[in-house]
Amino acid sequence: MDSIVIHGGLPLRGKVAVSGAKNAALPILAATLLASGRHLIHNVPAVQDVKTISKLLTTLGARVTELGGGDVEVDTTGVERFQAPYELVKTMRASVLVLGPLLGRLGKARVSLPGGCAIGARPIDQHLKGLQALGARVELKGGDVSVSGRKLKGTHVYLDMPTVTGTANIMMAAVLAEGETVIDNAACEPEVETLAAALNAMGAGIKGAGTDRIEITGVRTLHGSEFTVIPDRIEAGTLLVAGAISGGEVHVTRCVPENLKAVTAKLREAGLPVEEGDREMRVTGSRPLRAVDIKTAPHPGFATDMQAQLMALMSVSEGVSVITETVFENRFMHVAELKRMGADISVVGNTARVKGVARLSGAPVMATDLRASASLVLAGLVAEGETTVSRVYHLDRGYEGLEKKLAALGARIWRLK
Ligand code: EPU
Repeated sequence: MDSIVIHGGLPLRGKVAVSGAKNAALPILAATLLASGRHLIHNVPAVQDVKTISKLLTTLGARVTELGGGDVEVDTTGVERFQAPYELVKTMRASVLVLGPLLGRLGKARVSLPGGCAIGARPIDQHLKGLQALGARVELKGGDVSVSGRKLKGTHVYLDMPTVTGTANIMMAAVLAEGETVIDNAACEPEVETLAAALNAMGAGIKGAGTDRIEITGVRTLHGSEFTVIPDRIEAGTLLVAGAISGGEVHVTRCVPENLKAVTAKLREAGLPVEEGDREMRVTGSRPLRAVDIKTAPHPGFATDMQAQLMALMSVSEGVSVITETVFENRFMHVAELKRMGADISVVGNTARVKGVARLSGAPVMATDLRASASLVLAGLVAEGETTVSRVYHLDRGYEGLEKKLAALGARIWRLK
């Protein structure tokens, strides 16, 4: 199993380009199932989760060809299977994203229930509620969820919480339904907005994505498409924190500053100058860092996917920061590992109290989920001595060569195979 070794203490300097967004690429690749034909998707990140969804699409009968340089061709002409196997779903919860498209295209879909994961129980009741409202029959049997219905009808769906993949699934199923569908309290994440744009490029009629009310006018057919995945706002945020925590100056290119407003606001509150340009941002890692409070929330609130990284930053700030996680009930596994490095953090319920310390010290630590891994790498950049982050397969699920990008900025970091 690979691990990452970091010798902390060097300020990072230079320019780094952001890859395509994992959480946009996954639903867009799943969406190709809806429209028989050839799709050319650009800026697809080379991360493990993308490999997993590609394998899933292949299992369902699609042909997926990596053309290099982030270009992926998906030919969905031969899709006729409708079952996502347990082996794949258990490695990646986002496999559930094929439910909506398969239902829309084939009138049926069967996916192993994803179950809980390290960051929480993560049920899919809202996905199923929406599909049912569109007229699908939902059955739970043998650990699988089956949805079926050849004639879906437009409807009104109100989501109890603005679930990201739930909104995506319902939107995808509704595209080929008869008539109008309205999703209220929809997720407003940029990844939902770009999925809608990708579906529209296939011939769908979606309006309002990116707001909490999405309107979908059903169409009869869809076609092959060409689409470019948006830059990964979480990778961009992680790289900004890398510049900030190391006390250097990092210029992040190929990003969308608009999608990082909450992170930028918190970095500025902490006393870090952040400049925004057209598709670029620059952070200067000035000291002292002020402790700031953070509360995660659905977009445009502070992204839960940036919580662990900001906690690493806050652990070397001056003062006490209160970090509240409201999206997932169990997303503090990085706390125990940060404490091994000398961080002073206590957790009560969904709130972490982070008292900044003057220095962290390198230690062997273990990654437990994707963003937790990123926070440990960030802490390693500022820690004295050597940090070894094990179980980096979590990191590889969602970051394209993070250690290489950080090394190019001057970090002493390498991978042990
Ligand atoms: N929820 C329900 N019922 C549902 C759906 C969600 O109770 O039917 C709850 C969840 O348990 C959670 C909250 O609603 O407490 C929000 O979950 P959401 O459904 O929005 O999360 P998701 O769609 O499963 C996506 C990202 C996550 C990201 C969250 C929140 C993808 C593939 N995954 O997950 O990304 O944290 O939205 O923004 O888009 C990551 O990249 O590290 C990651 C975990």
